[in-house]
Amino acid sequence: MPLRRARLRSRPAAALLAGGLLTALLVPVAVAAEPAAQPASGSATAAPAARVAPEQAPDIPVANVKAHLSQFQSIAAANGGNRAHGRPGYRASLDYVKGKLDAAGFTTRIQQFSAGGGTGYNLIADWPGGDANQVLMAGAHLDSVSSGAGINDNGTGSAAVLETALAVARSGYQPREHLRFAWWGAEELGLVGSRYYVSNLPAADRAALSGYLNFDMIGSPNPGYFVYDDDPQIEKVFKDYYAGLGVPTEIETEGDGRSDHAAFKSAGVPVGGLFTGASRTKSAAQAAKWGGTAGQAFDRCYHSSCDTTSNVNDTALNRNSDALAHAVWTLSE
Ligand code: TRP
Ligand code: ZN
Repeated sequence: MPLRRARLRSRPAAALLAGGLLTALLVPVAVAAEPAAQPASGSATAAPAARVAPEQAPDIPVANVKAHLSQFQSIAAANGGNRAHGRPGYRASLDYVKGKLDAAGFTTRIQQFSAGGGTGYNLIADWPGGDANQVLMAGAHLDSVSSGAGINDNGTGSAAVLETALAVARSGYQPREHLRFAWWGAEELGLVGSRYYVSNLPAADRAALSGYLNFDMIGSPNPGYFVYDDDPQIEKVFKDYYAGLGVPTEIETEGDGRSDHAAFKSAGVPVGGLFTGASRTKSAAQAAKWGGTAGQAFDRCYHSSCDTTSNVNDTALNRNSDALAHAVWTLSE
């Protein structure tokens, strides 16, 4: 993962003539990259196709992320109220995400495993292109507990990773690194799906992973802004993004090792991620800097039936979705 840097392009031939050949040869000119190409909309004057990786991630529309949450809520309602491992609501959630990715041009595969007497599934989506020996992954667990629809935990991470993947496709982003997105099964049974993926990954594929970014509970209703303090370079990308927003962050301590980055970290892969808090209580100092309610849990509906689409803070979801996309772009360019 290179540090963020300006891309260098040599001057076009006309500039060589006008500006002096020697200078142009010795001094490459840093230029701002063009914004990502938009989907063709009938314009006959589109710029020619010489593509430069965009420096900036697009804004992730929070309305799109919330539309995925509504779909997860409907899927739970149609399947006994949950999206838990081994239940039909899990498979329906996976089929929903897979359908969006397939339509957008991802190469998807379903990895099957057994856990707790049921069949579990991971969904892996590769964006064609990039260096096969430098693979950046972002993932989220897609299963809920059986007591509810699991919209903050972890519809939010699942939806934000999905919308980021779809934004990659919409922008035609062709990063230097290869991008892979993942939705894990059976996290709530003990991180089963992600552990299964890592332990079955051939050593060469594991060595090719440049990083794994995890998103588990990123829209808590009384949110904190927590950044995993694992790999320092990944941590810095998230912290710098939040510093740019003027929003203070804290190191994530509530769940060290309690989500799907654990298996990657154990395997020596650099990891990072974001979190807005679960059952811990927001302190007065935290409420002073982030707003919300002191003396109340970050998520009072954690692992409960009230973890519905009402159990999401849109500002936190919006910021974290944008931060996710920013990290994917910055770390893969
Ligand atoms: N992974 C936990 C769950 O799904 C939630 C959790 C607790 C968590 N602490 C965390 C997630 C810290 C990420 C980081 O039940
Ligand atoms: Zn959970």
